[in-house]
Amino acid sequence: MFEDKDNAMQKPDLGLMLREDAFKGKVIVVTGGGTGLGRSMTEVFMKLGASVMITSRKEDVLQKTCEELNALGKGKASYAVCDVRNNDQVEAAIEKAWTELGPIDCWLNNAAGNFISPTERLSHRAFDTIVDIVLKGTYNCTLAMGKKWIAEKRQGTFLNIVTTYAWTGSGYVVPSACAKAGVLALTRSLAAEWAKYGIRSNAIAPGPFPTQGAWSRLFPDELAKKIDPLERIPMKRFGEHPELANLAAYLLSDYSAYVNGEVVTIDGGEWLQGGGEFNNLSHVPEPMWDQIERMVRGKKS
Ligand code: HXC
Ligand code: NAP
Repeated sequence: MFEDKDNAMQKPDLGLMLREDAFKGKVIVVTGGGTGLGRSMTEVFMKLGASVMITSRKEDVLQKTCEELNALGKGKASYAVCDVRNNDQVEAAIEKAWTELGPIDCWLNNAAGNFISPTERLSHRAFDTIVDIVLKGTYNCTLAMGKKWIAEKRQGTFLNIVTTYAWTGSGYVVPSACAKAGVLALTRSLAAEWAKYGIRSNAIAPGPFPTQGAWSRLFPDELAKKIDPLERIPMKRFGEHPELANLAAYLLSDYSAYVNGEVVTIDGGEWLQGGGEFNNLSHVPEPMWDQIERMVRGKKS
């Protein structure tokens, strides 16, 4: 794992942002909720009183996470084994959640697959694998859940986890970039189309938040010795899971009832740092600015 820089902006000491019973009576499904960010978001939803069904492919992981989360003594966790690429399994997970926990109020599309690779090294199956998990998985879940909400005349809220290269694109993670761009288009499209049914769709675009799943596939040790991702982040630190989880809770809560079709970036300014023509001048040492100013003013006169 990378260490945050000494000069990192101070991390806030976070509790819950919403009042403790804000999700009392709410049922939320979190795909990929057994690990990483999905698990952290689930923990906050439960602390707010929600019943949460976590889903993924690995039953042992889901079972252990559920036990640990239920031991917190707040909310309720349950699980369904569900490969989001398989529509039958998605529909079965919806029925399981609806029967065990009650009508679903919110669906968080968080499951993903990713790894770094030069694109020319990818087989078409490798490309399919990522696009199928991220884009097909998200539209499978969204279509099945959306149809059920519409048929049952119930309101609902989708939240989709994308990333900033959904709109900038990025080399070396091209299948993921294509798929996340599709998820963002889905988010915005349905925000307009399904609002009439009381269904909201929003997204979060996180910058780097340390998780075992992402770090092992995107920043393997040999690469970490050569490239420091903190260099790209103006705030010189990674995201903290509670920062993301509180944002997700807000976007799923009634407090954001008028937010629809939005993508909220939470990346310490990372993607803009790469975009601004002169942003790399932050590398100029402070004393050198006197000399530079003299040169620039000299040119003017
Ligand atoms: C090239 C690779 C590869 C690699 C797999 N493949 N890894 N090709 N380089 N490193 C190829 C395989 O050879 C195969 O193609 C095809 O991809 C499918 O591989 P499988 O291992 O059979 O797939 P599967 O078991 O379904 O596993 C999916 C996975 C795996 C994506 C490859 O890593 C996984 O389960 N990931 C889930 C969790 C995850 O990825 N979390 C990170 C999300 S982070 P062939 O042709 O050989 O059959 C994230 C952050 C974004 O998204 C932004 C950060 C800032
Ligand atoms: P993670 O722990 O690897 O989470 C991915 C989850 O998806 C795992 O629980 C995995 O469980 C599940 N999953 C993978 N393939 C699946 C499939 N076919 N069907 C169902 N579930 C599947 O990684 P993470 O970092 O927390 O990532 C969570 C989300 O945040 C992803 O959408 C990722 O793109 C996004 N994100 C992360 C970062 C970051 O820095 N960490 C930055 C930007 C965006 P199983 O293996 O058990 O199926």
